Amino acid sequence: MATIADSMWRSAVGLGLFAIITAGTIAVTQAVTEERIEQQIRKAEAAALFEIIPESRHDNDLLSDTVSLEPDPLLGTRQATRGWIARQDGEPVGVILPVIARNGYSGDIDLLVGIDADGQILGVRVIQHRETPGLGDKIELRKSDWIRSFDGKSLDNPKPGRWAVAKDGGAFDQFTGATITPRAVVEAVKQALIFFEDHREILLAEPSPNQDGS
Ligand SMILES: Cc1cc2nc3c(=O)[nH]c(=O)nc-3n(C[C@H](O)[C@H](O)[C@H](O)COP(=O)(O)O)c2cc1C
Repeated sequence: MATIADSMWRSAVGLGLFAIITAGTIAVTQAVTEERIEQQIRKAEAAALFEIIPESRHDNDLLSDTVSLEPDPLLGTRQATRGWIARQDGEPVGVILPVIARNGYSGDIDLLVGIDADGQILGVRVIQHRETPGLGDKIELRKSDWIRSFDGKSLDNPKPGRWAVAKDGGAFDQFTGATITPRAVVEAVKQALIFFEDHREILLAEPSPNQDGS
């Protein structure tokens, strides 16, 4: 005959198993979700690379022609990253840098900034952000054309003091009711241009994967 102690023991084992299975299921779901999010980010990144430097402007394998980048405050990065080099007939035509705007309204804004060999912007795209829908999310190309206002700009166009949103006396529009997000992006893109200027020679001298003797 089962005692009270037996019954309590069975309940405890049952509860323990239930807890283990539940915790395991949550952990697996979380890992799968994180992997999916990472895949989506990589997909968005690849699409943005070809928007910034279309295939008509380069003939190398952009996705595999990469350069390692140390963490750098000018890029907003705290971990090693990689940039991409576009080439035409073996000559570098531009570099695409991963940039993080650290002072968005809701945290980090991940960008790709394409810069040609003369320091002119080829394009900027937002890869990931958490800005407010209807306010800060106008940095996305599918929400507004604002991000195209960087095309063709360089460190001296507009002049350094005008690398800001209009509200701060600069050349770039802010959004109605949302100044913080565009301010953060303008500042991050300007810093990326300074990074490019500081590292131009090294970046453009990077051997292509087919020329390094491997
Ligand atoms: C719920 C809520 C969400 C907001 N989201 C954003 C946002 O995503 N980006 C942004 O620039 N401002 C956002 N704002 C507005 C900012 O708080 C701020 O008022 C605006 O950016 C103007 O900034 P300024 O005073 O520096 O010009 C939000 C405000 C509220 C109340």
